[in-house]
Amino acid sequence: MRKINLFDTTLRDGEQSPGVNLNVKEKLEIAKQLEKLGMDVIEAGFPASSKGDLLAVQEIANEIKNSSVTGLARSKKEDIDAAWEALKSSEEPRIHVFLATSPIHMKYKLKQTPEQVIETAVESVKYASTFFPVIQWSAEDACRSDLPFLASIVEKVIKAGAKIINIPDTVGYITPKEYGEIFTYLLENVKGIENVILSAHCHDDLGMAVANSLSAIEHGAGQIEGTINGIGERAGNASLEEVAVALHIRNDYYKASSGLFLKEIKKTSDLVSNLTGMVVPANKAVVGKNAFAHEAGIHQDGVLKEKTTYEIISPELVGVSTNSMVLGKHSGRHAFKARLQELGFVVTDEELNKLFRSFKDLSEKKKELTDDDIKALLIEEKVAN
Ligand code: KIV
Ligand code: ZN
Repeated sequence: MRKINLFDTTLRDGEQSPGVNLNVKEKLEIAKQLEKLGMDVIEAGFPASSKGDLLAVQEIANEIKNSSVTGLARSKKEDIDAAWEALKSSEEPRIHVFLATSPIHMKYKLKQTPEQVIETAVESVKYASTFFPVIQWSAEDACRSDLPFLASIVEKVIKAGAKIINIPDTVGYITPKEYGEIFTYLLENVKGIENVILSAHCHDDLGMAVANSLSAIEHGAGQIEGTINGIGERAGNASLEEVAVALHIRNDYYKASSGLFLKEIKKTSDLVSNLTGMVVPANKAVVGKNAFAHEAGIHQDGVLKEKTTYEIISPELVGVSTNSMVLGKHSGRHAFKARLQELGFVVTDEELNKLFRSFKDLSEKKKELTDDDIKALLIEEKVAN
């Protein structure tokens, strides 16, 4: 079984979600929960970006012992110095240095020629290696880069000392097949690539971040980066709980596992949502309110007979106590009767027919019927008082 490392950037790329601002205490609380979840690497922040971020990374690096802690740095001495200041006391200091490699970024943002970009990248990795035992190097906007150029710069930073090579889809542009092909190309064309871990970092602008990450795994990636609940810049990052659960449920296909303690997923998702203020959409895979809820009569009937008819993930797997039967206009008699029994009411067939008719009438006016609505129906129909 292949072990895939998960690199969580909720506290860095996730915090770049518009409107999100975590203080040191909140960041530490999330980092501790990520450690409990079994995250391999926690990117705690971007130390050069602010004093607060440097302090947060420092505190997390001091406290967290069972996950590796890292911080982001541009390819600048002052950023690498700030990262060292923040991370020097961690168990195994690890830095994440990045530089853009796409023609658009090199020309308009960096205003450097491709040759200058190679020089800057190599110099920064060499400088970082005078402090850090573990260096991750990222080719920002890798997926819109010229492939032979990408291969050439990756080869040079590996020679300079990078141990993890990250291939970000910075703007969420790539498709799963194309992303896999980039990994294959690098594996076939870069000398020394067998000595490093290849990493995927996907954004969700076209809604393909998780699919792209899984494709990277199929094509040799040993590390996946993302965030809890998929929060992050613009449309967000790959959702790590979705990647981990996909690997678990479709283990027959991927033959790889994340090593996360999946039971901690819901708790982690709730904590991140509460502290960031980013509400999890009800229909979000794995952690959304509706992920284990059944409304349609046919589905409810199936699940009441045998859960696996409509549930491929058991709620307990990810720390959700139970599935739920939502009573609404599509619900059927079986679920309605089951709810009456759960509420402690035993009714005759005749009473059930009457109650079910009233329930259907009410469900035309209300989206979801609560237990109180059902108790009110029982009183109205004089089945209970
Ligand atoms: O999306 C991106 O390219 C990034 C890098 C800094 C790794 O977040
Ligand atoms: Zn990113």
